Amino acid sequence: MNEVIQSSAVNEVIQSSAVNKTRLLLVSGSTRRGSTNTAVLRTAAAVAPPGTHSELFDGLAELPAFNPDDDHEPLPAPVNELRRQIAEADAILFCTPEYAGALPGSFKNLLDWTVGGGEIYRKPVAWINASSVAAPTGGAGAHTSLATVLGYVGADVIEPACLRLPMSRDLVGTDGLVSEQGLREKLASAVRALLGHRPAESTATECTLSP
Ligand SMILES: Cc1cc2nc3c(=O)[nH]c(=O)nc-3n(C[C@H](O)[C@H](O)[C@H](O)COP(=O)(O)O)c2cc1C
Repeated sequence: MNEVIQSSAVNEVIQSSAVNKTRLLLVSGSTRRGSTNTAVLRTAAAVAPPGTHSELFDGLAELPAFNPDDDHEPLPAPVNELRRQIAEADAILFCTPEYAGALPGSFKNLLDWTVGGGEIYRKPVAWINASSVAAPTGGAGAHTSLATVLGYVGADVIEPACLRLPMSRDLVGTDGLVSEQGLREKLASAVRALLGHRPAESTATECTLSP
């Protein structure tokens, strides 16, 4: 079950029904407990504009290794779930660390499963790379790889919403959120940029957007 995240902007627990809300799917590239990238996504949800229904995808570790031979109906259940959630989202925010100069293998595996489904085609997407302040490349390799992969699948990349965030793990509080004000403002601005973007075909949806 995905985590549905509270938005402090409206100071209420987002209802399980996402009717008339803009659906923001959050996908972390880290399976680590206490991940800074997952904390950044939770915080992005908390500062999202009112009217946003945010869900954190929690199936990364369950996805089987991508094999084109298995990319047909009936799909493995975790893949089916991933594709359903992507299809239902109005926008997707990815947040991933960099491992050895590139994307973490499990996260690249998730992205490989999106190629055949086509659900991500023309979907507004952005990504944030949170890395340790001491990291030599500061997530640059992951950042560039995401541009390549998401360009390949035809996603609608919203560049003003893409960020690299050097940050210490100490910035994540016991509530799993980032409390540092400057960082929260950057995230709020990135989410606004991502959700403010609507491709022409999507303007007829019932989703409401805050200014
Ligand atoms: C195996 C491994 C390889 C790493 N390689 C890089 C790297 O190439 N570049 C970088 O900026 N950080 C690298 N890091 C540091 C991660 O960016 C940092 O640990 C980050 O906080 C992990 O994200 P998380 O807290 O969301 O799990 C690496 C960490 C690990 C465990």
